[in-house]
Amino acid sequence: MLVTAKEMLEKAKAGKYAVGQFNINNLEWTKAILQTAQELNSPVILGVSEGAGKYMTGYKTVVGMVNGMLEELNITVPVALHLDHGSYEGCLKCVEAGFSSIMFDGSHYPIDENVEKTKELVKIAADNHMSLEAEVGAIGGEEDGVIGKGECADPDECKRIADLGVTMLAAGIGNIHGVYPENWEGLSFETLEAISEKTGDMPLVLHGGTGIPADQIKKAISLGVAKINVNTECQIAFAQATRKYIEAGKDQQGKGFDPRKLLLPGTEAIKDIVKEKMELFGSVGKA
Ligand code: 13P
Repeated sequence: MLVTAKEMLEKAKAGKYAVGQFNINNLEWTKAILQTAQELNSPVILGVSEGAGKYMTGYKTVVGMVNGMLEELNITVPVALHLDHGSYEGCLKCVEAGFSSIMFDGSHYPIDENVEKTKELVKIAADNHMSLEAEVGAIGGEEDGVIGKGECADPDECKRIADLGVTMLAAGIGNIHGVYPENWEGLSFETLEAISEKTGDMPLVLHGGTGIPADQIKKAISLGVAKINVNTECQIAFAQATRKYIEAGKDQQGKGFDPRKLLLPGTEAIKDIVKEKMELFGSVGKA
């Protein structure tokens, strides 16, 4: 059964480790992530962007697929199904569809409007027993077609949003989605420390988990990050493994193209990344 992200993140924050959010795009990714979490006895969050939700034909299909897998794969570790970077309307749709967690990304609104909309969603999430992630300070890179600049959030604005009663807070600390440019300056630990100080026990979320060096990940966790999102790294590994398989000509052997075999190397590549991240984040054995 799906659970909210609340308990797993409170435990992670107190235990100084982080739970991984791995984005899903199809059945293969979902299965790979769930099986790895179960194998490593780790809690996990499945992230679904609005674009991925649409691709998978809609949120109800996603809920049906994930619930079916939890049962048929005998998954017993805590799993949250979470809307990633949701709009206000997207959040309402996921409440309706049966997600266990939502993110409202109001970071592109003026702070007062972000506060107003987040406040409404705090009530809706509570009424529906769901966890809610809010965002302050846009995270750079591309989020479903929207390019941000890698801002550092204002700690006072973070406190305003945290005080509304959200479950977890994503705050820009110089992180960006996608591959980091050569001249990236690294995470701003000064900003993270100031946000942690203002928001106390609030589990903080680090987006853009792809390509952040291990020492920076560990330091971020020590300063209050309890959830780390990873997507691009899985996309790259999935594409590379699939291409390698095709280039080897294996897909044309025997009876011809077999989609199940074609997608297997990519699926295995995702398992390896999820394992590596869970070990780095310290969530192994924490289910
Ligand atoms: P990356 O694609 O950079 O790993 O970031 C994922 C993310 O933050 C999803 O919200």
